[in-house]
Amino acid sequence: MPTALIVLAAGQGTRMNSDLPKVLHELGGAPLFAHALRAGASLAPERVVLVVGHGGETVERAARALDPDLAIARQHEQLGTAHAVAQARAALADFAGDALVLYGDTPFISPETLSAMQAARAGGADLVVLGFEAADPGRYGRLVIEDGRLARIVEYKDASAAERRIGLCNSGVVLAPAPLLFELIEAVGSDNAAGEYYLTDIVAIANARGLRAEAVTCDEAETLGINTRAELAAAEAAFQARARAEAQANGVALPAPDTVIFAHDTVIGRDALVEPYVVFGPGVTVESGARIRAFSHLEGCHVSRGAIVGPHARLRPGAELAEDARVGNFVEIKNAQIGPGAKVNHLTYIGDAFVGEGANIGAGTVTCNYDGVAKHHTHIGARSFIGTGTYLVAPVSVGDEAMTATGTVVTEDVEAGALAIGRPQMEVKPGLARRLLEKFKKRKERKGE
Ligand code: UD1
Ligand code: CA
Repeated sequence: MPTALIVLAAGQGTRMNSDLPKVLHELGGAPLFAHALRAGASLAPERVVLVVGHGGETVERAARALDPDLAIARQHEQLGTAHAVAQARAALADFAGDALVLYGDTPFISPETLSAMQAARAGGADLVVLGFEAADPGRYGRLVIEDGRLARIVEYKDASAAERRIGLCNSGVVLAPAPLLFELIEAVGSDNAAGEYYLTDIVAIANARGLRAEAVTCDEAETLGINTRAELAAAEAAFQARARAEAQANGVALPAPDTVIFAHDTVIGRDALVEPYVVFGPGVTVESGARIRAFSHLEGCHVSRGAIVGPHARLRPGAELAEDARVGNFVEIKNAQIGPGAKVNHLTYIGDAFVGEGANIGAGTVTCNYDGVAKHHTHIGARSFIGTGTYLVAPVSVGDEAMTATGTVVTEDVEAGALAIGRPQMEVKPGLARRLLEKFKKRKERKGE
């Protein structure tokens, strides 16, 4: 059955106490709504509609950056979850398949749970709702089951004392044929304690029409929704715990797993070693057998087999380390390819550059890539030797097997095999140090008198 995804993300998220719309707060380095989209992606949806409202433009921009094919629906006033889903109607007017409704602030729904909902549909349910047994049912909507069927959902505010004792709660996730979903929503009114259009009302309406509604259940952890910064931090902890366990199951060595921070898309190969206190931002791949040493920070980069990074290294977006490359302490690499076996071991900045195979970059080398307006490229040839404290003023090129002397400021291209030396002439003045010292001491004594 072809599926469309409707992600509700119009709510204000008042309890985050933030200028940023709630669904743009990040979990594992990706905005919350991206996690909802990823959860829904397990059903390979043909269409995706994101319903935005509060901070709509900002959310829309972030969503388009992530997926340009996404349809955006605007909910100008937040009149309730049924009203929110109704905004997706135009985008799905010609869609006859099933629609899955997810919340943008609920990041952990698993693929298994969504396929269980699909299975219930395939088994004859017209409408499938995802529920969970809550440890503390609190203010969740309650699922009322009668004769094995889902009879209705009652919101906490509208529930009787007996209904409030029900432990089976509504997650908000719903699966139904899109045309039916919109038809049922049309019948939803707002005569309730909150004065809102409740999506949950479609269950009773469906039953009254002789349709079959069923509940599928999942673990409460999957339905965790984020309303406050404390809940976001708890979700981050849950996300990290899972990412660490997954990495270990995939054969990654993590001697101090609790100190390593992963992003939503971190990929690390088998037998790679990640030492304590390493932070992965988004977009990192580390191949098998690479070693990321302690206190390194990586984002948007690739580390090949056998490479060693850190301790205390920083790989920024576009850093690509080939096999057996070395990037050592207090080195920053940005938008640069470091060739096989090349070494950049100490106190160096390499940005917008190519470093050839087996090159050796001396301590304190800097690619001067930025002139205040534009960025410029530096080429460093294979097996070249860049002396300690070399400044490479880009755009500039150093050929294969060339050398730069310590302290050289490279402002012109250096041809292959050549030595470039450019530093102030040094003079040695015998005895002058002692004479100066005496003079300074005497001056101090005179002042002290
Ligand atoms: C909703 C459910 C409740 C369920 C709970 C699970 C309804 C009526 N109630 O309650 O049964 O137990 O979720 O967390 O559906 N949203 C919009 N536009 C709106 C209103 C909401 O986009 O006009 C979005 C919010 O951004 C949020 C989601 O829908 O992502 C849920 O809205 P929220 O107000 O948090 O619903 P609850 O009252 O918690
Ligand atoms: Ca909520």
